[in-house]
Amino acid sequence: MPRPKDAALVTAMLKNVKHDLCTDCHKDPHRNELGEKCKTCHTLQGWKGKDVKFDHDKDSKYKLEGKHKDVKCAKCHKPKSENAALATALFKNLKYKLCTDCHKDPHKNKLGSACEYCHNLQGWEKKTK
Ligand code: HEC
Ligand code: HEC
Ligand code: HEC
Ligand code: HEC
Ligand code: HEC
Repeated sequence: MPRPKDAALVTAMLKNVKHDLCTDCHKDPHRNELGEKCKTCHTLQGWKGKDVKFDHDKDSKYKLEGKHKDVKCAKCHKPKSENAALATALFKNLKYKLCTDCHKDPHKNKLGSACEYCHNLQGWEKKTK
């Protein structure tokens, strides 16, 4: 029987081998915000751009529709500074229920907060309803 101290060490080692966590060797730039299952979004091909497998419509609470499909990730997920990596941006706990969570109201609230009544995601000039 190994002494308790050694047993804990062996268990820790086996645990690492068994789980094969990416974080055993790679730092998590997301401050643990996106969980430990790095493989949901990452492969061994590379960490950025087209190598990210993440499907916004399926894997997040927010679908990218209309003009939002062409918006750069960093416009909604603002990294700490302009030149900081996208990986350091905020990906959870964004406000998004209202258009005004992200857009200024040029009508100065004279037309109410239900922007969808007159606008859609195809452009501000179009009115469908
Ligand atoms: C046993 C340690 C270890 C584990 C576990 C590990 N990696 Fe790596 N990985 C490395 C090393 C070492 C490199 C080469 C050095 C580097 O680029 O950081 C590397 C390189 C990479 C690269 C290429 C980096 C680049 O800039 O091109 C990617 C992507 C990557 N690993 C993803 C992953 C993912 C995803 C996981 C989990 C499924 C993972 N790795 C698990 C050690 C590991
Ligand atoms: C829900 C999806 C998601 C998960 C889960 C996730 N990532 Fe990422 N990761 C991203 C996105 C999006 C980027 C930004 C890609 C870009 O810059 O094009 C990124 C970027 C990165 C980068 C590149 C950083 C840089 O700019 O050099 C690394 C390294 C990385 N992630 C590691 C991890 C590790 C380690 C884990 C698990 C602990 C993890 N990621 C989990 C989505 C995810
Ligand atoms: C029009 C705004 C907008 C754009 C553009 C956008 N996102 Fe998002 N994204 C959101 C919102 C809103 C959420 C939901 C945040 C929450 O759950 O609190 C989200 C969630 C996420 C998440 C978290 C998923 C999870 O695990 O819950 C990741 C990762 C992400 N987006 C990556 C990206 C990447 C990569 C791009 C560019 C290809 C991008 N986003 C473009 C608004 C946007
Ligand atoms: C999570 C943030 C977020 C929410 C919520 C959101 N948008 Fe956006 N939207 C953006 C960003 C960022 C852009 C890009 C604006 C830019 O490039 O300056 C954009 C662009 C647009 C555009 C393209 C025209 C333009 O200004 O570039 C339209 C139209 C639009 N949004 C409509 C809406 C409507 C309507 C709603 C409510 C149903 C809404 N958005 C909700 C973040 C958001
Ligand atoms: C009662 C209808 C109505 C409502 C509600 C409404 N708008 Fe508008 N909005 C308009 C009209 C009409 C225009 C002018 C369209 C044009 O120029 O073709 C406009 C234009 C805009 C423009 C473009 C202005 C510019 O300076 O280019 C933006 C952005 C906009 N609205 C945002 C919003 C937001 C955000 C809300 C919700 C807080 C909202 N609107 C609610 C009718 C409405």
